[in-house]
Amino acid sequence: MAKVITFASQKGGVGKTTSAVHLATAFALGGYKTLLVDLDPQGSVHHSLGIDKQDSLGVREVFCTPEVKLSEIVQTGKHQNLDLLLSNIQDLLVEQTVNKIAVDYYHLAQWLEQNAVSSYDFIIVDAPASTSSLSINAMLAADYIVVPLECEALAIKSLKRFLQAFKELQRTIEPKLRLAGILLTMYDETILSHQQVCKQIYQALGDSVFKTIIPNCPHILEASSLGIDVIQRHLNSAGATGYIRLANELLDRFLLPDVEKAG
Ligand SMILES: Nc1ncnc2c1ncn2[C@@H]1O[C@H](COP(=O)(O)OP(=O)(O)OP(=O)(O)O)[C@@H](O)[C@H]1O
Ligand SMILES: [Mg+2]
Repeated sequence: MAKVITFASQKGGVGKTTSAVHLATAFALGGYKTLLVDLDPQGSVHHSLGIDKQDSLGVREVFCTPEVKLSEIVQTGKHQNLDLLLSNIQDLLVEQTVNKIAVDYYHLAQWLEQNAVSSYDFIIVDAPASTSSLSINAMLAADYIVVPLECEALAIKSLKRFLQAFKELQRTIEPKLRLAGILLTMYDETILSHQQVCKQIYQALGDSVFKTIIPNCPHILEASSLGIDVIQRHLNSAGATGYIRLANELLDRFLLPDVEKAG
């Protein structure tokens, strides 16, 4: 049975898509059968993985034709063990329709439960930067929520807002909602403010912050512009090793006892 991990944050540009793509890749390369779901209307997973076509079947069908089977809308990724459920909701009217259906906050959770959970070890969900009904769907579908946080001065403010919204969701909708941890991203050890933010976050939140820190890594930018994951492109880069370490930390911290390693 798959564990569902959602990358969520109200703030844009913090590394949600990059983290979702690379954690999914790291798990797939580690032999775990993995489904990557792009719930963001921006469809950034397409760009990160060099997929041009945005009119294929995907997330739209999950919401608008819920009787659809996963096998009818899933695509195979570049790696063995990696499947993709892509975002095809960038059209404004489609996005609005999907958002209306997504006011049933458990829609995605129920669809995944019926169609995907038994076929994978991991389902990784990339959520939009908001607290829209789509993001709430992404969080309520998750066993574990990971909140990427860029190591910059405004990060703590945006994290406080997110944690407030998260508690509100827990109080009003789903008490079982579970935060896996805060993931520090794009860390540059040569920048003093990054060091300070990093220290403050660990002091304030301790074990709720992953030990793995994703460094600022030009290879990630380069690989993404080429539509390749950085693990395939530059296996020894700090970005690639960071995401492999994150996958191992997640396995150690939460998941390994429940997961049967594929192959
Ligand atoms: N560790 C990193 N080092 C260097 N660049 C990075 C790193 N992580 C992400 N980036 C770059 O930062 C930008 C934002 O990252 P990403 O798209 O993953 O953020 P996001 O939170 O998904 O954004 P959005 O909220 O718009 O969906 C991208 O150009 C990405 O390639
Ligand atoms: Mg994104």
